[in-house]
Amino acid sequence: MSINDCRIVELPKVSDPRGNLSFIEGGQHIPFEIQRVYYLYDVPGGSDRGSHAHKKLHQFIVAMSGSFDVVLDDGREKKRFHLNRSYYGLYVCPMMWRDLDNFSSGSVCMVLASNKYDEGDYYRDYEQYLAAQGLK
Ligand code: TYD
Repeated sequence: MSINDCRIVELPKVSDPRGNLSFIEGGQHIPFEIQRVYYLYDVPGGSDRGSHAHKKLHQFIVAMSGSFDVVLDDGREKKRFHLNRSYYGLYVCPMMWRDLDNFSSGSVCMVLASNKYDEGDYYRDYEQYLAAQGLK
C-alpha cells in the first residue's frame, strides 16, 4: 500500500435540527473491521503525538472535537492533513509514519483500529522504519 491509499473519507451525516448524527461501519465506510477504539484528549497546546508507524495496523482518525493535523510520511513523501470536522476522517494504511500536531484546545482525536494494542506492531525508530521500507 502507498501514501496515495491514505485519504480523507467523508462520513454519512444525518442532519437534524436536534443535532447531527454521523456513523461509521467497519468494512463499509472504512476498509477494515474495527477491533479497537482509542482517543486522545486533554492534549496540552504545542504537544505532538504519534511519531511511529505500524507494521500491519489500519487506522481511521477523526477529530471528534476541535482540530489537529496528521502528517503522513512513507519515507519518500510527506502529506499533511488538517482534520476539523467530525464527519470527515483520515484512513491510514499500514507502514505509514505519522505525526500529529497543531492540536486546538479541547480537541479530541478518536482513532479506530483494525487490531488490538500490540507494541510489537510499532516502528518507533525512524531509521528502522526507513530500513523496513527498503530506503536505508
Ligand atoms: P502511542 O500509540 O505511542 O500514542 P500516540 O500515537 O497517540 O502518541 O501510545 C502511548 C502509550 O499508550 C503507550 O505506552 C502504549 C499505550 N497504549 C495502550 O496501552 N493501548 C492503546 O490502544 C494505545 C493506542 C496505546
